[in-house]
Amino acid sequence: MTTEVFCRTSPSLALVKYWGKKSTRHNLPATPSLAVTLGGVHTETRVRIADIDTVRLNGELLTLDRFTPLFDSLRRAAGRKVRFQVESSNDFPSSAGLASSSSGFAALTVACARILELELSPAQLSAFARSASASAARSLFGGFTLLPAGGFAAEQLYGPEYWPELRILVVLVSREAKPISSRAAMEATRLSSPYYHAWLRNAGQLLDPALRALETRDISALGSVVRLSYSRMHAALLASSPPVLYWLPNSVAILRECQRLRDEGIDAWETMDAGPQVKVLCLASEVAAVSERLQAVDPRLKIIVASVGEGPVCQVGER
Ligand code: PMV
Repeated sequence: MTTEVFCRTSPSLALVKYWGKKSTRHNLPATPSLAVTLGGVHTETRVRIADIDTVRLNGELLTLDRFTPLFDSLRRAAGRKVRFQVESSNDFPSSAGLASSSSGFAALTVACARILELELSPAQLSAFARSASASAARSLFGGFTLLPAGGFAAEQLYGPEYWPELRILVVLVSREAKPISSRAAMEATRLSSPYYHAWLRNAGQLLDPALRALETRDISALGSVVRLSYSRMHAALLASSPPVLYWLPNSVAILRECQRLRDEGIDAWETMDAGPQVKVLCLASEVAAVSERLQAVDPRLKIIVASVGEGPVCQVGER
């Protein structure tokens, strides 16, 4: 009989984006991020003790370079030299700008810590997850989360029950892996975008209005800050040399349709990350109208309707 730990997490979608690192060595974010954990989309990870470290994602063996530092720091914390056999799967496309690294590294951290019998607080787990992927620090919690600039761990601001009417339509524009990882693109922005410093100066200023809008659950006030945050992040990316452009024609078509919906008085506020997918905030009462219009942009697009999700769920079993 082998002990196996199972952990299920959900991706963290930034409403106010983190982009850029204060410290590359410690993977500390240069800008604060405010995020919502997406309910209805999941990463499931199973970890067992083995002779060598292996990580499979959706059945495919991955190289270990992004995993070994996290494994090593957890092993050091536990004072144990064990190796991990990891099998992970996403019920949404991986490495395509859908924050699979947030849910993936959060699930991995929780599962490995549990199998090592490490007694860690959520904040400590969040800090371990952050060292591998800053957005993963936020996936340690459900609801609405904040990861401060330079912060080691994220915190939960509101639980999943805080805004039950909020929906996030995830529009899958492409299933292909993104052309450049968020890590490499952040570094390219820092090194070559003349707008990077302007982005850093401005990004923090978007946090307060976003927090105020969240406090009153005002979707149009929140949406207008969400739109500024992703637009300015992508403007900085586009000014890199060579330019980094994640958008595809259908991404732009969806953004335009959101604008048309808003012109008609329907709150549909989009955001984008390091990939071509578009996520659209709206209220439950308008999901049918908004998804019908977005689907009409291209009938081939898949649209996932997410709500505000829960934090990690973990189980220990025998196999
Ligand atoms: O945590 P990373 O390295 O996958 O970067 C995430 C970057 C964005 O998704 C674009 C923004 C964010 O705050 O999640």
